[in-house]
Amino acid sequence: CGIVGYVGPRDVSKVVLSGLARLEYRGYDSAGMAISGEDGIKRSREVGKVADLARMLETSPLVGKLGIGHTRWATHGGVSVENAHPHCDSSCSVVLVHNGIIENYVDIKEELLSNGGVFSSQTDTEVAAHLLGKIYSGDPKEALVELYHRITGAFALAVMFADDKDHIYCIRKGSPLIVALGDGETLCASDVPAVLEYTRKIVYMGEGEMACLSREGASFWDSQGRTIEKEVVEVDWDLSMVEKGGYPHFMLKEINEQGAVMRQTLTGRTEGNVVDLSNELSWTSDWARSIKKVHLVACGTSYYAASVAERVMGLFTDLDVRVDIASEYRYRSIPIGEDTLAIFVSQSGETLDTLAAERFAKEKGARCLAITNNGLSSIAREVDDVLLLKAGPEIGVAATKTFTGQMAVLYLMALYLAKLRESLAKDEETRLVKEMTCLPYKIEGLLENSGPIKSMAEKYSLARDFLFLGRGFSFPIALEGALKLKEISYIHAEAYAAGEMKHGPIALLDRAVPVVVVMPDDELWEKTLSNVQETKARKSPVIAVTTVGRESSLKDVEDILTVPSTEPELSPFLTVIPLQMFAYYVALARGTEIDQPRNLAKSVTVE
Ligand code: G6P
Repeated sequence: CGIVGYVGPRDVSKVVLSGLARLEYRGYDSAGMAISGEDGIKRSREVGKVADLARMLETSPLVGKLGIGHTRWATHGGVSVENAHPHCDSSCSVVLVHNGIIENYVDIKEELLSNGGVFSSQTDTEVAAHLLGKIYSGDPKEALVELYHRITGAFALAVMFADDKDHIYCIRKGSPLIVALGDGETLCASDVPAVLEYTRKIVYMGEGEMACLSREGASFWDSQGRTIEKEVVEVDWDLSMVEKGGYPHFMLKEINEQGAVMRQTLTGRTEGNVVDLSNELSWTSDWARSIKKVHLVACGTSYYAASVAERVMGLFTDLDVRVDIASEYRYRSIPIGEDTLAIFVSQSGETLDTLAAERFAKEKGARCLAITNNGLSSIAREVDDVLLLKAGPEIGVAATKTFTGQMAVLYLMALYLAKLRESLAKDEETRLVKEMTCLPYKIEGLLENSGPIKSMAEKYSLARDFLFLGRGFSFPIALEGALKLKEISYIHAEAYAAGEMKHGPIALLDRAVPVVVVMPDDELWEKTLSNVQETKARKSPVIAVTTVGRESSLKDVEDILTVPSTEPELSPFLTVIPLQMFAYYVALARGTEIDQPRNLAKSVTVE
């Protein structure tokens, strides 16, 4: 979910609406806002997008001096106006918006019900509003500290009190929240894009911290109510980075930024074909040699980047490397200890599953590394080491450029670790780093010549099911290609290790099931070619993603998407691009909401 709050001289409703629109990637099944004005706090809530709320506000505007807004990704309670935020207590003396989950809401609700409480929604949030209303007796700070200790779970809250017409209050535990300091105006938000139009001076709220916002600025205190001083960070993002810049969709813009992202990621980390991460990592050779295990942990697209890295690390080191889905990691009895390097890959750095996995590994004594696009995120702040993607803000819900950025950072990290362990030959390092520095140009060339993908995608856009296949490095890419397609086009797409097709999914094949085969020129090419033949024998149309020059061996294949040649270990950087474009154009042909696919949210801060 996305939260925005504003106190200042501008049209509050407009500021909150534009902030919500920029946070829509965090959830978009309903939206709402509350504004504190002369005659108390008034709310407006609507099912659907922020644009639907905006239409509603046109006919019945809200005016006042301060306001809070919310765009929702439903957890507790279905998508309805009643469940949309902001929520309030029975007398509307307290109004709040919430991101996260209040875990003990059932017990609190029972207590409130037995005292005559009447609820109008199924949400955990309304319970918090009622509880706060009950606690509040004129001192907001005191009431918030008490609320903080009464509720458990993860929450970021922005609160207004009807009898305090000058301040917005915030609490943060688990879910992200920032405070933005403008000139005579102050904002709070779940993420930076919401405030960039007004200021770049940001305070990142920490765990258990609370804030009071006024036009003049903000004051902060900890969970015991003690005043704290917070650092103000000047972010280097500008508004153009969170706008479409002439592209019809953020996703297409972000796909096209991948050459630049790769270049940016390599800058300062590779000089003269040598990897050097010593400015960012304090790893020593002794430590690197002392570890035995590497755990890569992530969710969604980040998990597939981690899966590519698992294979890469296996090539360059003799470490025991494994990759896990973050929400599963804690529930396996695998040994984790001081001999373990645990790597958490998260674009946002806020995914709660990944954060919880990180805390688990840390408690067990592992050294934790975060690979993230947000250096001030919750995960980044809790780990021992951080490697940043230099991807810039990614707004499209379906991750593209951050996947490339993650793979690039993971490759560099794998090479660097292998160097510290003295298991990487110099010429190997030279060969790979040299080629990595060519990849931005190859990616850009590939994107420039991606015209034919559009008509091909249109041809397949009515298919109901797709199968994606790949071996070795191409297996995680097949998984990512299938994920992209299902996320934005809602077509059922499954990915299998190519060799595994004959053990089950082959039963699904017929003329109606296109099969996308990721088969760059590597040592597994011939083996994958056999799977293409097996597929053809079942009459499924085949779309092969292969290296330029290999087309002649694929004569009976329906469609071929070529990528430039590269070192075999680096093929994922190229093969993923046509798959992203394919998913984009299939979704375009089907008319789906590409940047905000149904039911998804970009940053999921609940378990
Ligand atoms: C959500 C998004 C996915 C993303 C995943 C992990 O589910 O919809 O696109 O890959 O979270 O996000 P992270 O920020 O941890 O990389």
